[in-house]
Amino acid sequence: MGCGEGGCGACTVMVSKYLRKKDQIVHIPVNACLAPVCAMHGLAVTTVEGIGSTTTKIHSVQERIAKAHGSQCGYCTPGFVMSMYTLLRNQPKPTMDDLKTAFQGNLCRCTGYRPIMEGFKTFVEHPDCEKITNGLGNTNFNGCPMGKQCCKNRNNEEKEDKTYALFQVSDCKPYDHTQEPIFPPELKIS
Ligand code: FES
Repeated sequence: MGCGEGGCGACTVMVSKYLRKKDQIVHIPVNACLAPVCAMHGLAVTTVEGIGSTTTKIHSVQERIAKAHGSQCGYCTPGFVMSMYTLLRNQPKPTMDDLKTAFQGNLCRCTGYRPIMEGFKTFVEHPDCEKITNGLGNTNFNGCPMGKQCCKNRNNEEKEDKTYALFQVSDCKPYDHTQEPIFPPELKIS
């Protein structure tokens, strides 16, 4: 329980639903404080405890927000983790725009958003390039203004060589979306 009125996103959980007509599974981030239990009939609910813990094994999303120093008091952390986790379940290769949209419902009152984004943008293939080409909304843009320094032109070693980086991605375990739990088969027929 965070604010209890859908304002902070700290209680975000992932609700998974099977769309029978499309034979497709969708994952939705939901503020648990606003969702009555009866509305969860036939749906699968995943909480932050369900994706990993320090006693079992933490999830890549949890590891990266921790290593990027994206958690201070920790009030918002479960919500940010679950919003990122839900995004990855729907889209294993998100863009920076996807990230910004995914966190619109999450508030942090003390750490600041930079370390949180630094941690999570490691799930984006070309985060710096997209920030420049898409973040300014420049539709007539022809190539990256970083020129030869564009992240697409640098190898992994060069990308890691950031003097002011908050952490090194190479210290984190790689994320493999194929290892996520499957949708409960019994809910496909209910
Ligand atoms: Fe304190 Fe985000 S770490 S509110």
